[in-house]
Amino acid sequence: MDNQRMLSGGAGEEERFEEQSLRPQTLKQYIGQSQVKQNLSIFIEAALKREETLDHVLLYGPPGLGKTTMAAVIANEMGAGFRTTSGPAIERPGDLAAVLTALAPGDVLFIDEIHRLPRSIEEVLYPAMEDFCLDIVIGKGPEARSVRLDLPPFTLIGATTRAGALSAPLRDRFGVHARLEYYTTSQLADVVLRTAEIFSTAIDSEGAEELARRSRGTPRIANRLLKRVRDYAQVRGDGRITLEKANEALELLQVDRLGLDHIDHKLLTTIIGRFKGGPVGLDTLAASIGEESTTIEDVYEPYLLQIGFLQRTPRGRIALPSAYDHFQLEVPSP
Ligand code: ADE
Repeated sequence: MDNQRMLSGGAGEEERFEEQSLRPQTLKQYIGQSQVKQNLSIFIEAALKREETLDHVLLYGPPGLGKTTMAAVIANEMGAGFRTTSGPAIERPGDLAAVLTALAPGDVLFIDEIHRLPRSIEEVLYPAMEDFCLDIVIGKGPEARSVRLDLPPFTLIGATTRAGALSAPLRDRFGVHARLEYYTTSQLADVVLRTAEIFSTAIDSEGAEELARRSRGTPRIANRLLKRVRDYAQVRGDGRITLEKANEALELLQVDRLGLDHIDHKLLTTIIGRFKGGPVGLDTLAASIGEESTTIEDVYEPYLLQIGFLQRTPRGRIALPSAYDHFQLEVPSP
């Protein structure tokens, strides 16, 4: 279950496919992220008026907040083709050259997890981003020579969960930096209602709110929980998702009232119980709960930081008083 964690923001294969049919097509249909949408709509309108491509865009933020969706919306609003790849899929400079030379003028190229692009390949990207050209070396040894290939103008949209993991030269080549934020409960309830309508599932506003409250500010989680609650309502009820059915189903799924699951619980209770509330180093914590440090950092921690349960300090992680309260534990006196 851990790879397929019910509450992880990361997407599975099938989920990515399905998300495409749920995906909003326009900025207007896209719920939340209003600051980012307002800025982008101006940049898009200006680029369209000048009949130019949009400047390269870096989208960053925790998993599941809609970076891929936003990139597809941008391409659609620009009336551009949308091509996608990811950092780990590009292993050699030739892989990137193949992707770049297949672009049509004006296309949007989306690179997911761009922080996982090897540094040697980043260097191929620099002239492509700056001058729409590609320097390739043909031949070997003294015979080797460099040829410059022109590329069509395109917009690169890079997505990353950690902007800090990007090299400075790559980061600086994006003209637009947009940080996606966690959604409010009311925005998530709107996402749930919209998806339920696409699924033709009956849901009342209290049912939608409850799902939203327990989705860790993340639409991907909200849509995932909606599907499971829909199953529950169909089998243990008349198919309609009410507050009561949502609560029963979520209890059975072991999603607590703040949307935390057994891994969050383990992480927090380990800091509190075993390390006296911290500080405890990330690697020590990871080893204690049997998870990878990067997974803790990218997937589990951001939401716990956001809701004020956890603090990152130079000496390690500390559990904050609201985490103790959540587990009805006494905050130790200093
Ligand atoms: N489905 C998932 N995320 C969404 C969003 N931000 N807006 C509309 N529908 C969505």
